[in-house]
Amino acid sequence: MKHLISIEDVSKEQFQEVYKLSQQVKKALKEDRKKFSVLRGKCVVNLFFEPSTRTRSSFEKAGKFLSADVINISASVSSVKKGESLIDTLKNLDMMHPDVIVLRHPCEGAPYTVKNHINASVVNAGDGRREHPTQALLDAITLLERFGTLEGKKITIMGDIVNSRVARSDALLFRKLGAEVFIYGPSPMMPRFPQALGVKKLNSFEEVAELSDVIILLRIQLERQNAKKVFPSLREYAELFGVNRKRLGMLKPETVILHPGPFNRGVELNNDVVTSERSLIFNQVETGLAVRMVVLSLLCGRLEKLKEEIH
Ligand code: CP
Repeated sequence: MKHLISIEDVSKEQFQEVYKLSQQVKKALKEDRKKFSVLRGKCVVNLFFEPSTRTRSSFEKAGKFLSADVINISASVSSVKKGESLIDTLKNLDMMHPDVIVLRHPCEGAPYTVKNHINASVVNAGDGRREHPTQALLDAITLLERFGTLEGKKITIMGDIVNSRVARSDALLFRKLGAEVFIYGPSPMMPRFPQALGVKKLNSFEEVAELSDVIILLRIQLERQNAKKVFPSLREYAELFGVNRKRLGMLKPETVILHPGPFNRGVELNNDVVTSERSLIFNQVETGLAVRMVVLSLLCGRLEKLKEEIH
């Protein structure tokens, strides 16, 4: 695999390999084995045009644990500020011979254009509302760690679906792995054609609670909306859709809750959810690091070396 831009680029077999290896990586990290030579001589550039905590820092750690050279660039302190275009920025960076460029950009499809102008591999670390493939990988793997399989599982993605790249990538991967995917949230935040994503719309939290094995909570993406016209407001959202102690109590005993982060306590969830045994929110972050170590190894053609070293 040369690039990872859409989760559709990942076959079921490749997913299974990423899953298996990520488990071995997690085990190694837990045993305090954190330095591998898998990517020695390779260079990873993190180029972020939007804020990030989890994705950027885990790609940085992933590269460093694997002994790659890692360069972090924020658009806000780059020559983009002086008017340089995305393509010219990438062409200049490509002349420094990076092997992988991890790109987060607000425009849907930006990584597809970029990849045609450079030699390095491109990882889509989030392109506007479109996709966030490594988030989908880590979400699916977090769920497999709990359930063993996604076959027949009912997964509801809840919140600002229409603005969410995570919702799209998650839905595509979960369905590929045999799950049934539902969405629920305020009407203005629902896609007009959910069938295009292969998901079904639910109409009440009672329905969500009754059928879901998994609930993925999303934040309201105010940065992608006209903040003055957002309906419902954050306060209204918390009241009508926020998961709190009462709504937590309506779930089936085995139902788990995920959130890609950043989460807003008091809006889409409250403290009871974050501290609940149902919450896998922090497991997601830990899994994300391992997944990104595997993804970087895969794109650099060093998967066999990772397998050798990780034992
Ligand atoms: N889940 C996620 O993409 O988080 P960050 O925006 O912090 O990277």
